[in-house]
Amino acid sequence: MSSGYSMNTVLFSLFLFVLVPKVSFCFSTKVYVVYMGSKSWEHPDEILKENHQILASVHSGSIEEAQASHVYSYKHGFRGFAAKLSDEQASQISRIWPESPSFSDTDMPEVPQGWKGLCQSGEAFNASTCNRKVIGARYYLSGYEAEEESHAKVSFKSARDSAGHGSHTASIAAGRYVQNMNYKGLASGGARGGAPMARIAVYKSCWDSGCYDVDLLAAFDDAIRDGVNILSLSLGAQSPQGDYFNDAISIGSFHAAKRGVLVVSSAGNEGNPGSATNLAPWMLTVAASSTDRDFTSDIILGNGANITGESLSLFEMNASSRIISASEAFAGYFTPYQSSYCLESSLNKTKTKGKILVCRHVGRSTELKVKKSKIVKEAGGVGMILIDETDQDVAVPFVIPSAIVGKKKGEKILSYIKTTRKPMSRILGAKTVIGARPAPRVAAFSSRGPNVLNPEILKPDVTAPGLNILAAWSPAAGNMFNILSGTSMACPHVTGIATLVKAVHPSWSPSAIKSAIMTTATILDKRHRPIIVDPEQRRANAFDYGSGFLNPLRVLNPGLIYDSEPTDFITFLCSLGYDQRSLHLVTRDNKTCTSKFTTASNLNYPSIAVPNLKDNFSVTRIVTNVGKAASLYKSVVSPPPGVNVTVTPNRLVFTRIGQKIKFSVNFKVSSTSSKGYKFGFLSWTNRRLQVTSPLVVKVG
Ligand SMILES: *[C@@H]1O[C@H](CO)[C@@H](O)[C@H](O)[C@H]1NC(C)=O
Ligand SMILES: *[C@@H]1O[C@H](CO)[C@@H](O)[C@H](O)[C@H]1NC(C)=O
Ligand SMILES: *[C@@H]1O[C@H](CO)[C@@H](O)[C@H](O)[C@H]1NC(C)=O
Ligand SMILES: *[C@@H]1O[C@H](CO)[C@@H](O)[C@H](O)[C@H]1NC(C)=O
Ligand SMILES: *[C@@H]1O[C@H](CO)[C@@H](O)[C@H](O)[C@H]1NC(C)=O
Ligand SMILES: *[C@@H]1O[C@H](CO)[C@@H](O)[C@H](O)[C@H]1NC(C)=O
Ligand SMILES: *[C@@H]1O[C@H](CO)[C@@H](O)[C@H](O)[C@H]1NC(C)=O
Repeated sequence: MSSGYSMNTVLFSLFLFVLVPKVSFCFSTKVYVVYMGSKSWEHPDEILKENHQILASVHSGSIEEAQASHVYSYKHGFRGFAAKLSDEQASQISRIWPESPSFSDTDMPEVPQGWKGLCQSGEAFNASTCNRKVIGARYYLSGYEAEEESHAKVSFKSARDSAGHGSHTASIAAGRYVQNMNYKGLASGGARGGAPMARIAVYKSCWDSGCYDVDLLAAFDDAIRDGVNILSLSLGAQSPQGDYFNDAISIGSFHAAKRGVLVVSSAGNEGNPGSATNLAPWMLTVAASSTDRDFTSDIILGNGANITGESLSLFEMNASSRIISASEAFAGYFTPYQSSYCLESSLNKTKTKGKILVCRHVGRSTELKVKKSKIVKEAGGVGMILIDETDQDVAVPFVIPSAIVGKKKGEKILSYIKTTRKPMSRILGAKTVIGARPAPRVAAFSSRGPNVLNPEILKPDVTAPGLNILAAWSPAAGNMFNILSGTSMACPHVTGIATLVKAVHPSWSPSAIKSAIMTTATILDKRHRPIIVDPEQRRANAFDYGSGFLNPLRVLNPGLIYDSEPTDFITFLCSLGYDQRSLHLVTRDNKTCTSKFTTASNLNYPSIAVPNLKDNFSVTRIVTNVGKAASLYKSVVSPPPGVNVTVTPNRLVFTRIGQKIKFSVNFKVSSTSSKGYKFGFLSWTNRRLQVTSPLVVKVG
């Protein structure tokens, strides 16, 4: 079973497929995105509670208003209440789908002839629900129903998005231009996805408890047959990922790659070294980073100190209040230490009333962070400062004036409280701030290399924006737009760009598109300084961002590409020692191992990793000229410390487009004192272009 990647919940999941027709010249009208749907984003109890509340409001008469005005009903939130609706009510809801302006089909041409997908009807979703933007929708429930004891929790037995995660990621990849997108007034302005004229179709295969392999495989199968060209998966297994032959996503994406479909996926939100998943070399795996936009909330202390926190809460305190550490407000049987985490029932109402509480937090769940503000509110608190011990920088929609700070700022506030007789503070509402910090930075939660399954393949491959991203949301989940964080959001940024590459270069293989995205990525931030990593602010390396940060300006013209054929992936698996049985589990055909690379590092990948360098070792690569017919490239190497790198030949002379030239990269240990992974790069450069690969070497 797999679960999706988003900061909002451990259980998010969705698929998103992007299609491009086989022959295309006009990329603004003939690119199609197909999107696979998502699941509920809240704890089932929480959903049930909210459903009851919402139902009550429906019965008290607001249903007419809701029908009369879409905007009205969306603003007032209908999170996942369909399970509680009659058929008639459900069908009423279905008339308003797809309601999001991000999925409007205005000015889009007819659904193309070659499209073999369908619009499957189901709960709150019928066969005419699709439009010329969302051209297909299917859902997959068999695996879920076979495994789950109770079916009661399924919200919308259809492709309809009950959670919002799917709408969010789909609109990042291919959402139409929306004139005034904002979240409660934050980040307001025009916004669109990476490929706004692409088509979308939905393959919803994940439910309350995650995604089941049989459902995922059926979805892959249909999507490939329907005629998709790019496939985007903001989901994945928990780390450590199982071997490819045990992993439905690896298997499904292998078949996609075999049929010329690029699979873009998220690296995961676990943050630790070696936690990256979706490790197969036939996938494009994306890490998450920040943008230059923050959502901050000023915290003013009684001594005049002005501390910047993160928040999506617009609630603002109009005057200062007493501020205490939540440990002081411990209740009943709870210890001060337990209460410092503001757990349920741990706060003494007498001590909390009218005060700002400083609470601690570990872990990545957005719901739990929001919940702490609810607990403080219920205990009578007027504000909360949440010390996020993992420094995630993820902005959260709290229910009272609140802000998140990292460990350092948290200690400063606690020390002010300790050393002041009557400590006071005031928390201001969240605001949008542009350019206050270096950007992009790799997000603290973004899962990292090395690749624990095959250290010969560097993962993640690239990074893209995934921290505090504004995009569409499902009105069924409460809002028209929302701000979310996760590698789930980073993945469709790459999907959108990959769609444009496919549209401009329709004959390019999935590996070629992936190579273009990787070799043109940048390792510099907006200030032209090396990208840094949250929370330590250290210099990032290839385990954080792979080849670097997506660079849409260069991606259409990479000059050279590192291409791979499906048979290369079979050779790769054989090099790993796959026997007939495990090979069959992946390929599902009669292929046998007829050849092997001397090492798995020799797969023609756009990055180079040598995990066990003994003394002197050579890796080969082949580049294909996709730039000017007559072109000359020279190698430029920045060797990993303690390793001598020789490239042979060190000049590549091309005379025609499509020409392939092989070269080798020799790594030689020059200083044995150098232990652990070291990083460098190899660039093929001419006057206009740089084709860059990270080099990752561990002296063994
Ligand atoms: C589907 O929904 C639309 C809009 O509500 C309605 O006009 C149409 O009759 C429905 N079609 C079917 C087959 O139920
Ligand atoms: C606090 O600092 C922020 C950013 O540095 C600034 O925009 C804000 O005006 C300051 N607030 C006060 C009350 O000084
Ligand atoms: C602050 O004042 C505004 C405007 O008077 C009011 O809407 C808001 O509720 C007040 N905030 C708090 C926390 O009392
Ligand atoms: C809460 O604090 C008050 C005042 O210190 C105390 O009298 C009361 O017993 C406490 N209640 C609980 C449940 O701890
Ligand atoms: C595998 O080989 C067997 C025997 O040669 C053949 O009958 C079968 O159809 C083949 N299967 C596939 C999937 O090619
Ligand atoms: C690496 O080793 C090979 C033989 O294994 C030798 O021919 C070659 O010269 C060596 N290269 C370097 C740079 O030492
Ligand atoms: C590594 O390269 C340096 C500079 O080219 C050279 O002086 C040194 O001898 C090389 N070391 C080895 C072990 O080949």
